[in-house]
Amino acid sequence: MCGIVGYIGKNKAKKFLVEGLSMLEYRGYDSAGISVVSDNIVKTCKTKGKIIALQELLKTNDIDGYLGIGHTRWATHGVPSDNNSHPHNNSSNTISIVHNGIIENYSKLKNSLEEAGYKFLSDTDTEVIVHLIDSYYEGNIVEACRKAVKDLEGSYALGVISSNEPDKLVAIRKDSPLVIGVNSDEKYIVSDIPALLSRTRDVYFLNDNEMAILTTDSVTITDYDGKVLNRDLVHIEWDLDSASKEGYEDFMLKEIFEQPLSVERTIGSKIKLGEKVNLENLKLDAKSIKNIFIIACGTAAHAGMVGSRLIENLSHIPTQTFLASEFRYQEPLVDKSSLCIFVSQSGETADTLGALKLCKELGARTLAITNVVGSSITREAMDVIYTYAGPEIAVASTKAYTSQLTIFYILALYLAEQTETLDIEKQENIKREILNISSNMKKILKCLDSIKNIAKIISTKKDVFFLGRSLDYITAMEASLKLKEISYIHSEAFAAGELKHGPIALIEQDVPVICVCTNKNLFDKMISNVKEVKSRGAYTIILSREKSDIDCADIILDIPDTIDILMPIISVIPLQLLAYYVTKIKNLDVDKPRNLAKSVTVE
Ligand code: AGP
Ligand code: GLU
Repeated sequence: MCGIVGYIGKNKAKKFLVEGLSMLEYRGYDSAGISVVSDNIVKTCKTKGKIIALQELLKTNDIDGYLGIGHTRWATHGVPSDNNSHPHNNSSNTISIVHNGIIENYSKLKNSLEEAGYKFLSDTDTEVIVHLIDSYYEGNIVEACRKAVKDLEGSYALGVISSNEPDKLVAIRKDSPLVIGVNSDEKYIVSDIPALLSRTRDVYFLNDNEMAILTTDSVTITDYDGKVLNRDLVHIEWDLDSASKEGYEDFMLKEIFEQPLSVERTIGSKIKLGEKVNLENLKLDAKSIKNIFIIACGTAAHAGMVGSRLIENLSHIPTQTFLASEFRYQEPLVDKSSLCIFVSQSGETADTLGALKLCKELGARTLAITNVVGSSITREAMDVIYTYAGPEIAVASTKAYTSQLTIFYILALYLAEQTETLDIEKQENIKREILNISSNMKKILKCLDSIKNIAKIISTKKDVFFLGRSLDYITAMEASLKLKEISYIHSEAFAAGELKHGPIALIEQDVPVICVCTNKNLFDKMISNVKEVKSRGAYTIILSREKSDIDCADIILDIPDTIDILMPIISVIPLQLLAYYVTKIKNLDVDKPRNLAKSVTVE
């Protein structure tokens, strides 16, 4: 989610606001805006597009003041547009806010505010916040904010200003980052350190469920009940480049570590124990669907392959996954009783868009799963389900992949509820395990040493092979793609049962074979395949659930246990990390590998 800046001090705000937003551009965004307090009112300038478009607008809207806020938006609710850009103001333009995150209960809040007579100018979730603060405002902006945030569910980093109280800037934080910068007679709020470094290196870090009241001379941090909290000032030593990755060496590593949060955000309020799956405004009638086609490219296609297994296993609707570039030219048996699902992080992949247009011509129902609000795919498909992974900067897709898998788990359950093919107990068990994914991911992200040791071995090799069966085979394909696309090592994934039909001829002394063995029912068969390659000289690395007793492995990578169908979202993480560390050892550009683009908008 994108960028917030705020300023209060003895100088004018606009310069810092625009400069600060420019330092946050790397996070990916689709619109930008600022508000300042001037002549006892809030003045706002905002636009769809890049910061240069905002600067152009500011040339003819010369607003400035000693208090202000700014925002670069990564849309989650409401397409990128001038109206949906932040800041958002109350109707009297006396309160203005910027927001990073997602308000899960915005529909309910919007309905009650509209019933109370509030008029909304945007389609965003954010706008409910400013009207909620207005509804609580009785002359004290801090108190109004305290009351308003207690009604919010979801994630938010907020900057709030009021022309009624131009001596204070309010900052509030839950699940989205917010940092306070300190100078003797200027105070700042930013989403990320790079926006501050031109002004100060002295900061306070705001924790979840805390707020701060900034004046020109002071910073007061409190909880939501107003209890003052002591906080040490921190001096930032980071250089600009590492700071923009929030201290991680590369965007890919940052995005791998963001996965517990991005999965939680993607789940949002879609899954609750004891309740039916809530896919917001998606209305699919599973019983009218004769077959499902999932169409995508690259990593998104791997997510689709897992998705098709899940949907078939749970809902019994015949489902197949196709590579978009192939699908378009094979005269697919798609008709009006087909549901065609298109998966694309960018929402701009030409092959996927081409397949989507073909399916529409054939009369199918079309559904897009994407990470970018307002992308081309969202305008072509009948329905859209968003992943909330936030901007994915590294070319190698990681957090978008696990967010796509998350959506497929939820969608498969949603369809199974309707086809009544799963008993309630099994549905609840799957929901419980889905809600536990994030904590399982965090466990894996602690076992870096063993992965780094394996990376040292792999980094010297010319060829690396991956083996798996069923869902583990798909994970092997995704792992192989990750390794080859950033380390340039030749890598291939094989269905383990296929080895004896040819690929085993490739096995020679010390060639690394990474075996994904998480499926309990196929574990013994997999171990037999491992022994086949081991006996021909392979160096075997086995990925398996904790406490597996295996004597044919050179290395065992234990991963947390969960139900079989959820293993792909867990077992892929050590393999993403492996590709990352191999590439670092080879001293290659992890985020921008040769020959590749983040979004393949050509066929
Ligand atoms: C994945 O690591 C690659 N960058 C690539 O395979 C990517 O998944 C593919 O190009 C599809 O992109 P999309 O999800 O934006 O459509
Ligand atoms: N959910 C808000 C919106 O869609 C904020 C998105 C962001 O974090 O940039 O406008």
